[in-house]
Amino acid sequence: MTTHRSTKLWAVNVLTFVFLCILSVTGLMNWLLLPRGYRGGESVWLFLRHILQDLHQWSAIAFLVLVAIHMALHWSYIQSNLRRHGLLK
Ligand code: HEM
Repeated sequence: MTTHRSTKLWAVNVLTFVFLCILSVTGLMNWLLLPRGYRGGESVWLFLRHILQDLHQWSAIAFLVLVAIHMALHWSYIQSNLRRHGLLK
C-alpha cells in the first residue's frame, strides 16, 4: 500500500468514526433526552430538536458517502474475496 493511499484510508476511517459518533449522539439525544410534542410557544428544546434532526440527517449522508469511499478504496480486496468464495467470476 502506498503512503498516499494509506493516509487517505486513515482519514476516511477517522471521519467515518467521527460521523458515526455525531449520528449516535444526535439520534439518541432526540430520542431519549429532548421533550416530544409541540406545547405551544417557542421553546429552546424544540429549536434544539430541529437542529439535531438536521445534523443527524446531513451526518447520515456524509457517513454513507464515506462508507462508499471506504469500499471503493478496498474494491480490489472485496473483488478478490468474492472471487475466492465463487460469488464473482
Ligand atoms: C446512515 C445512518 C443513519 C441514517 C440514514 C439515519 C436516519 C434517521 C432518520 C431519517 C431519522 C428520523 C429523523 C426525524 O424524525 O426527523 C432518524 C432518527 C433516529 N436515529 Fe438515525 N440514522 C442513521 C444512523 C443512526 C445511528 C448510528 C444512531 C445511533 C446509534 C441513530 C439513532 C437514531 C435515533 C435514536 C432516532 C430517533 C430520534 C427521535 O426519536 O426523534 N441513527 N435517523
